[in-house]
Amino acid sequence: MEQKKWWLDGVGYIIYPQSFLDSDGDGFGDLNGLRSKLDYLHDLGVNILWICPLFDSPMDDGGYDVRDYYKINPLYGSDEDFSRLIEEAHARGIRLLLDLTLNHTSIEHPWFKKALAEPSSEERGYYFIRKGRRVDGKLLPPNNWESFFFTSAWENIEGTDDFYLHLFSPKMPDVDWSNPKLRERYHAIARYYLDRGIDGFRLDAIAHIAKAPGLPDSPKPIDATGYVLDVDMYSNRDEVLDYLKEFDERVFSAYDCLVVGEAGGCISPERALKLVNRKSGPINMVFNFDCVWQNGGWESIGKKKEERQLDLVNLKRNFLRWYQVCHAEADMPLYWCNHDHPRVLSQYGSKQFRNESAKCLLITLLFLYGTPFIYQGEEIGMANPDYPSIEDYYADPGERSEVPGFRKRGYSEEEILDYLQRTSRLSGRSPIPWNRGENGGFTTGTPWLKLGEEYKHGINVLDEMNDPWSIINFYQYAILKRRLPDLNETVLNGELQFIDIDNPDVFAYLHDGTEKLMVVSNFRPYEVKFDFYWRIKDVVLHNYDSVLLDNHTFTLRPFESFLLKV
Ligand code: NOJ
Repeated sequence: MEQKKWWLDGVGYIIYPQSFLDSDGDGFGDLNGLRSKLDYLHDLGVNILWICPLFDSPMDDGGYDVRDYYKINPLYGSDEDFSRLIEEAHARGIRLLLDLTLNHTSIEHPWFKKALAEPSSEERGYYFIRKGRRVDGKLLPPNNWESFFFTSAWENIEGTDDFYLHLFSPKMPDVDWSNPKLRERYHAIARYYLDRGIDGFRLDAIAHIAKAPGLPDSPKPIDATGYVLDVDMYSNRDEVLDYLKEFDERVFSAYDCLVVGEAGGCISPERALKLVNRKSGPINMVFNFDCVWQNGGWESIGKKKEERQLDLVNLKRNFLRWYQVCHAEADMPLYWCNHDHPRVLSQYGSKQFRNESAKCLLITLLFLYGTPFIYQGEEIGMANPDYPSIEDYYADPGERSEVPGFRKRGYSEEEILDYLQRTSRLSGRSPIPWNRGENGGFTTGTPWLKLGEEYKHGINVLDEMNDPWSIINFYQYAILKRRLPDLNETVLNGELQFIDIDNPDVFAYLHDGTEKLMVVSNFRPYEVKFDFYWRIKDVVLHNYDSVLLDNHTFTLRPFESFLLKV
């Protein structure tokens, strides 16, 4: 009999460590801060933590620029702190997934340093180092590829005609997975951490680890940056499957571990299924990006408000599409946002209806098919902090390189600030306020990134816990329900049907399993009517204190949401 996978009755939680809790006053969250909150997380009901990178790093990109995979980032603590974290998490039944960056290292990684210093070294072959092109005496990059950080994907190596490839920040050179020696290095790193007792990985940017052979120019038209963001050249190519299969054969398959890949680059569910198929896929799940940014926020600088409304039908259809292709053969994760997005409350919810919309978003996500992952701070209804100046957003390398382009294209300072406030991923990284004391109790020092102002007005963990109707208390109760064996069984095995999928305002679905579970959620900040012809056996979760159902029509108030047994 196939062994039951432990993540199938789990609820995940995403930790951005530098913003979680600082225990030593240096302004950065750390492992001991996190360890001191394991009871908090346990009480919340989550039992799988995906922790963003913990390795030694110069922190150009929040630790995704790794300097030493075998060393814990001193900002976060020591190796002993890490061992203690594993031990104490496990003692509470909490499993840990480390975030492993496979697509690039830091420029400060010894491999890269050696690659530059010794052109004949093995490490030179770990990276993409190529000669630039001389055109009319001008030195140009080897090809026209654009990085995800809005510049050429190539950086010149000073004093030479050589360039190195970086799909992300120029301080993060891409590594070459077609090189078997490089792949072995990563196998060893993964084995090392699994042997230390961690329970799996979130694999960063796996979509991009294979590049078009020969690194040719993209034939597509160049965009405003002067380059081409062409996912066909460096995303979701067939070799990704080969590399991960080898990784599985040599490493993952020997452990009872969960491996979740981050698959951007417009991956289709059909292609993703090859990676995560329970029988033949090398990893267990992928995070896709199809359910984020359904509010027109992506690349929305200069777009009018009317063009930036939540397209609920599309959102539902994306969930459905992935479900239809994958559910019979694969496990799936569910999430609204992570450290790469603005806060979901500001995207799909409403600050005006904070309590209602935070609960509505939770109910809607929690009972879809898959293993839910909550992003830190969602449980207290955190919204974007709306920092007052453009420079406040420069803590992110992506924003630093994006803003000059906007200025060149003539956008006003107000337009740029408005855009950053709405869309910057730094918004999701503002530190967690634990109370209404100084810096929200996050640190006794100067926080690496400012907190928003809201914690002073009750949006903090302590105030939330003290309010019986709060978001956090609702989270606790809802997660408890989600993990009940009979409900879990229905969610995972009962057929999922979307009800009135073309309804532009209401997100409703039914699981037809051992139980019949139905979610009905109004995603608008105004009242809407919804026809309803089922017999309600039980109201399991609800974010208002009365039910307006008359003659088979629900009157749903702003962000009203139900989980019903019918
Ligand atoms: C995805 C990570 O989630 C993001 O934060 C990072 O900037 C890129 N990958 C590059 O590692």
